[in-house]
Amino acid sequence: MILIDGKKEASELRDQLKKKVTEIKSKYNTVPGLTVILVGEDPPSKIYVKNKEKFAKEIGMNSEVIRYPSDLKEDVLLNKIKELNKDDKVSGILVQLPLPKQIDKRKIIEAIDYEKDVDGFHPINVGNLSSGYDSSIPCTPLGCSLLLKKVEKNLSGKHAVVIGRSNLNGKPMTQLLLKENCTVTITHSKTKDLKAECLKADIIIAAVGIPELVKGDWIKKDAIVIDVGINKTDKGIVGDVAFDEVSKVAKAITPVPGGVGPMTIACLLKKYY
Ligand code: GUN
Repeated sequence: MILIDGKKEASELRDQLKKKVTEIKSKYNTVPGLTVILVGEDPPSKIYVKNKEKFAKEIGMNSEVIRYPSDLKEDVLLNKIKELNKDDKVSGILVQLPLPKQIDKRKIIEAIDYEKDVDGFHPINVGNLSSGYDSSIPCTPLGCSLLLKKVEKNLSGKHAVVIGRSNLNGKPMTQLLLKENCTVTITHSKTKDLKAECLKADIIIAAVGIPELVKGDWIKKDAIVIDVGINKTDKGIVGDVAFDEVSKVAKAITPVPGGVGPMTIACLLKKYY
């Protein structure tokens, strides 16, 4: 069984990026800048944003975090985005989700200049990805894709089952797998027999947010299992996959933590190079 070490892959990716930043700095005397906006006090969001800032700085990029209280008015955020869109020093804008109730997520995503949309959530980027054109790709699926390719270079003809249909993970993941010529099944909470679907899979991407949903007897021998879940439980952080059982059957699996998570941030920084 191969334990896919996302921490190591992400660290190697950051080392490569650091070299590129140094080169660009000496050639053009400038570095790309990432602006992250955090609204409110959601604890996981605070950790993500802190890590994004830390790693951006570590590789030598300019990084700014704008923090707002949870009662922020939508107009204030929209005006800030307009300002950042026009600012040449800002190459990427990321508004951390979830946003408080009074703010319309769709309006915010659509206000970001699609060329500065590092998340790949803007409808133009979503459309380009689904049309198979160049686009900004959401970081988590991109990270999953890079980890998959570490285990299996040629994914053509493989049957991939994606669990979860979110705009952040499931849907863009499906597009990336199609690009690799996989046969893709998207499953979700209304899927009739999820176990039966999973048993057909050469590749499983679990991105549904249910602790240890995917069991050992759901897995075809030698399948590759990528676990996107980060679920807080009484026994600590666990993924969407029952790791102990599944790792006995799978050919390769990502651990939680230390799998997809670290790759997400490294992929965010990768977009600039
Ligand atoms: N919240 C959880 N994951 C993400 C992400 O990839 N991007 C943003 N903007 N917010 C998130």
